[in-house]
Amino acid sequence: MTPVTEAPSALKLTDRINRIEPSATLAVTAEADKLRQQGIDVVDFGAGEPHFATPSHIKEAAIAAIQGNFTKYTAVGGTAELRDAIVHRHAVDFDSDYRREEATASVGGKHALFNAIQILVEHGDEVILPVPYWVSFKDIVRYAGSNCVLLNTDESQNFRLTARMVESMITPRTKLIILNSPSNPSGAVMSPQDMTEVMRLAHERGIWVISDECYVYLNYTERRFSVGSLREFRDHMIIVGSLSKTYAMTGWRLGYALAPAPIISAMQKLQSQSTSNPTSIVQKAAVAALKGPQQCIVDMRAEYIRLRDHVVNGLRAIPGVQCTLPEGAFYAYPNVSAFFGRGGVNSAADLAGKLLREAHVATVPGEGFGTTDHIRISYATSMAELNRGLDRMRRFLGSL
Ligand SMILES: Cc1ncc(COP(=O)(O)O)c(C=O)c1O
Repeated sequence: MTPVTEAPSALKLTDRINRIEPSATLAVTAEADKLRQQGIDVVDFGAGEPHFATPSHIKEAAIAAIQGNFTKYTAVGGTAELRDAIVHRHAVDFDSDYRREEATASVGGKHALFNAIQILVEHGDEVILPVPYWVSFKDIVRYAGSNCVLLNTDESQNFRLTARMVESMITPRTKLIILNSPSNPSGAVMSPQDMTEVMRLAHERGIWVISDECYVYLNYTERRFSVGSLREFRDHMIIVGSLSKTYAMTGWRLGYALAPAPIISAMQKLQSQSTSNPTSIVQKAAVAALKGPQQCIVDMRAEYIRLRDHVVNGLRAIPGVQCTLPEGAFYAYPNVSAFFGRGGVNSAADLAGKLLREAHVATVPGEGFGTTDHIRISYATSMAELNRGLDRMRRFLGSL
């Protein structure tokens, strides 16, 4: 009898798809889901998304859009109304002065990053990427045919990136620098002075900078900052933003970019041959988010700070765990290397695997973010869940 599923030996995929790996964070979510389907009660510290519901005024705008039949194609980069709202919000909050032609909407921030990187870099270019990095940066760059030059940060300095560190990595082939402040996964925040200095360096050398601002509203230092305020350096600057974390809208898929008009046009050209416009209904919801009351951001930020303090204290109280204080985003990035060599654990991946399968706590191993000694814990969850997860971790790590 012929086997039902024959090995697809004839399947020859492209080099570019073989160059990249599936997202490590989505892989953890999938494995945790599988356990849950078996009836196992998993505490989820894996998913990188707010536990808050999308605010009601945003949901109502989407419902009104459906009822009003706003359900057809729009311009590829979003409606003029949405692009104006993006520009307006950024100008009010960060003192930028973009025009509509310098703004485009996408199907999530990841999509905007993908488009920007595909149009900017190719084989032979170097892209400076600070470590630890958000999983997708490296693979998006690789898909574009280029490679990242990894820039290690120092855990004892809270993984903070400085302009001097960036400068030391610049070569004549450097095409792009990727900044992500606050950072996923470390929560590190760059100082406004260092960000300004990086922009100056890049401007002087004609190097592009992508500033991923997906967590820009979740900055717990005294000063919320965007490079968009540095108007004199904007000719080589691409700002990528997202409504996902800011307004608890991860599933809606709405991101954006602010950049010089020729960059925006090229990104839209690529988008016109792939997804076309972001969902029309979501665009109406996004306008409501950007132009409506902003109190929801203030409230969520205050709660994240409370959760951060709780999880960091809880982790630091576990013997063997070291944890820096994240200054933004909603992740803790504890060092768990003290457990290597105990109970069959030899890496962060081993530890995260055992934590999930044996203690039923989902975390993401640091290998996906470019470091070997850490696991990422998303604390965007309720205080009760944090306590349940911390308890399980304490017991499990204590038993190793
Ligand atoms: C640093 C960073 N950039 C971009 C994104 C993309 O978010 P989205 O595509 O949901 O807007 C994420 C999501 O986790 C992220 O952590």
